[in-house]
Amino acid sequence: MSAAYDITDHTYDVLVIGAGGAGLRATLGMTGAGLKTACLTKVFPTRSHTVAAQGGIGASLGNMAEDSWQWHMYDTVKGSDWLGDQDAIEYMCREAVPAVHELENFGVPFSRNEEGKIYQRPFGGHMRDFGAAPVERACAAADRTGHAILHTLYQQCLKHDAEFFVEFIVIDLIMDADGTCRGAIAWNLDDGSIHRFQAHTTVLATGGYGRAYFSCTSAHTCTGDGNGMAARAGLPLQDHEFVQFHPTGIFGSGCLITEGARGEGGYLTNSAGERFMERYAPTAKDLASRDVVSRAMTIEIREGRGVGADEDHIHLHLEHLGRDLLLERLPGITETAKIFAGVDASREPIPVLPTVHYNMGGIPTNHHGEVLRPTESEPDAVSPGLMAIGECASASVHGANRLGTNSLLDIVVFGRAAAIRASELIKPGAAHKPLPADSADQALGRFDKLRHAEGQLATAEIRLELQRAMQRDAAVFRTQSSLEEGRRKVDDIAQAISQVKVSDRSMVWNSDLVETLELENLLACAQATVHSAVAREESRGAHAHEDFPDRDDETWMKHSLAWIDDKGKVTLGYRPVHTWTLTDEVDYIEPKERVY
Ligand code: FUM
Repeated sequence: MSAAYDITDHTYDVLVIGAGGAGLRATLGMTGAGLKTACLTKVFPTRSHTVAAQGGIGASLGNMAEDSWQWHMYDTVKGSDWLGDQDAIEYMCREAVPAVHELENFGVPFSRNEEGKIYQRPFGGHMRDFGAAPVERACAAADRTGHAILHTLYQQCLKHDAEFFVEFIVIDLIMDADGTCRGAIAWNLDDGSIHRFQAHTTVLATGGYGRAYFSCTSAHTCTGDGNGMAARAGLPLQDHEFVQFHPTGIFGSGCLITEGARGEGGYLTNSAGERFMERYAPTAKDLASRDVVSRAMTIEIREGRGVGADEDHIHLHLEHLGRDLLLERLPGITETAKIFAGVDASREPIPVLPTVHYNMGGIPTNHHGEVLRPTESEPDAVSPGLMAIGECASASVHGANRLGTNSLLDIVVFGRAAAIRASELIKPGAAHKPLPADSADQALGRFDKLRHAEGQLATAEIRLELQRAMQRDAAVFRTQSSLEEGRRKVDDIAQAISQVKVSDRSMVWNSDLVETLELENLLACAQATVHSAVAREESRGAHAHEDFPDRDDETWMKHSLAWIDDKGKVTLGYRPVHTWTLTDEVDYIEPKERVY
């Protein structure tokens, strides 16, 4: 099959797929360690979705009030509803402080407090003294923190002469018969050429799959590409049932209004003008963690206390903060509210609704970023030659619910960890084993089949069906019947890909084909989500199951694993949550009831 396409060959020590914050931090570290590194990205690096992260990066710097990484760890474990792996959480929270100082030294233009130190604001679920009261932990560059970090990391990569392959669509991984990853096959959209990248280690840093839903804060590029590649390589997807709804997407458009808005003193009201979060979370109120706030908003709407003509959304108030503070601390969302809701946030409330924002699950890894290929006897077995970092990975530091600001933290900490691990494992310039002659056949066979697909259904039609099913049946609240209906529909839609029609056969700038390749990735992600969700008969974090309203640690304190075969059949398994810490500086945090 590969004979139909001319292939350009490349050899690198490391291949990084994705140039968001995680991919750039890994590329920077690997290049800096003398490893010949290629970074492949489907969009120009500074257009990656990290650019949209707003409110801050979590680190217990203590610039505004006393804080500690142990409190940060406690909040993250509690936020995860005890599904997070505590060794990985310890690593992330401990490394947070040096990671943010490193970003400062790289040149990230953080906002400053009166002492000239990095400005920090409160964020949902970040508390002092093991849950006592909110603390300022989100290190912010106004409300454009992701933008500032992404541009700075890209500049640092350029300084280190990192090699970028921009607008390269990775089709699939190259896997040996023994399960070792040997690189990837990619398509250069700009000239239509096909490329084979051989590498000792391949790092997936491809972001989330928010676009499996109809309304999300994610960019159109967030299509779960790495998760799809991992699934096709025979690896399981972990904890996909945990999908985060951000409480404040703009009603109608889904655009993000940062939680930092509530960190600066904003609050939510229902149709009676009541600050209802005081009833649901008496201590943290509007700064409870996201699953708690999104559920409370949904209950208010369901019980007839929504605002607007159809009583179908909630108000976020920032008017009392004053125009000066909005322009200094929240300029981005002030502009977004004007453009997407037609609202002057200094005078009137912003209409908001919980909106899909983040995938806690992903490709299972350890805290070095190495991908796991779990078996029953070896749940932490490493899959050689493959790493995953950032939103496509599940380390698992977010468990069943991520705290705001821990995503920017995750990408820089685990991007760096992957670089450290790669430099331990790989000698720069080490010789490569020759690839088998058929190493590109599987990827190009799939590519060619989709390129010439002659069915009756447009890619956009199938995608819309998928997005509607996910939005309706795998929502903030789930029931057994809604989930089973969602599973049936998503499985049927996955089969419909065999009837897809790709109208454009060209190799250059063929967006129809790109979207069809992306759709296959979205389908794998969605199948893992609904299958894992149907099976999990408890409520935990973002998985709020109305037929099983309680958390059940005895049966369900375990990670879900979903394998998807090439016929779209899903097989589930489980692996234990890590209940240990890395050092004796901190003890395992025992599960308890989660109240804010
Ligand atoms: O609300 C926000 O600014 C989003 C931050 C995050 O998801 O970490």
